[in-house]
Amino acid sequence: MSRRGLFISLEGIDGCGKSSLKMELQEFLQPYLPVSIREPGSTVISEQIRQLLLDCRNDTIGDRTEAMLYASARCQLVDEIIRPALEAGRLIVADRYIDSTIAYQGYGRGIQLDFLYNLNQLCTGGIEPDLTLLLDLDPRTALVRRADGRPDRLEQEGLQFQTRVREGYLQIARTNPARVKVIDASQPQSLVKGRAIEYIKELMQERSWPE
Ligand code: TYD
Repeated sequence: MSRRGLFISLEGIDGCGKSSLKMELQEFLQPYLPVSIREPGSTVISEQIRQLLLDCRNDTIGDRTEAMLYASARCQLVDEIIRPALEAGRLIVADRYIDSTIAYQGYGRGIQLDFLYNLNQLCTGGIEPDLTLLLDLDPRTALVRRADGRPDRLEQEGLQFQTRVREGYLQIARTNPARVKVIDASQPQSLVKGRAIEYIKELMQERSWPE
């Protein structure tokens, strides 16, 4: 596949401020007409899988089943949206991607990382983001931030789980320093946004994008 587009993903624990950042980036990104997606979801099939995954009543979903459902939602998203958009030279901004599976199902649930990498390789054909912005935040701060909303199935897992997920993310960042940029999400929102834009501009310059 010739990859003419750019693929940026946003990652972090629940309540880290990803969704706010995505909204705040809209003004900067708008001229590039970004394809905005979220995981799990963004296709009809993937949104249905999302409902299954986040429904608190589904407390019998096994860990591997959970991992495979996230992977299935992603598989559909890659085929329907991500691959065609990259081939068409578009800019993709994704709220979560494979790193979420490694952090949540791998470090959080304790599933073998090899299994998860192989599964996701099958589902994505090896398509990786060009840049991942990791919003790093203490899970206790994140908990306070999202105290007003009704928690979904994953958010109910508690502090220890979120702490393992955070550690997982930081480990992913250490292993992939060129792709994954860590942003301190405890800073004021304007600084988080500023840092994110700097990283995106750097990437665009590096890739001479758009051509
Ligand atoms: P969502 O409401 O989109 O949370 P957020 O706004 O924090 O992104 O729900 C997605 C949930 O699914 C979130 O708790 C993280 C979890 N998740 C995984 O466990 N594995 C995955 O591969 C993905 C994509 C998400």
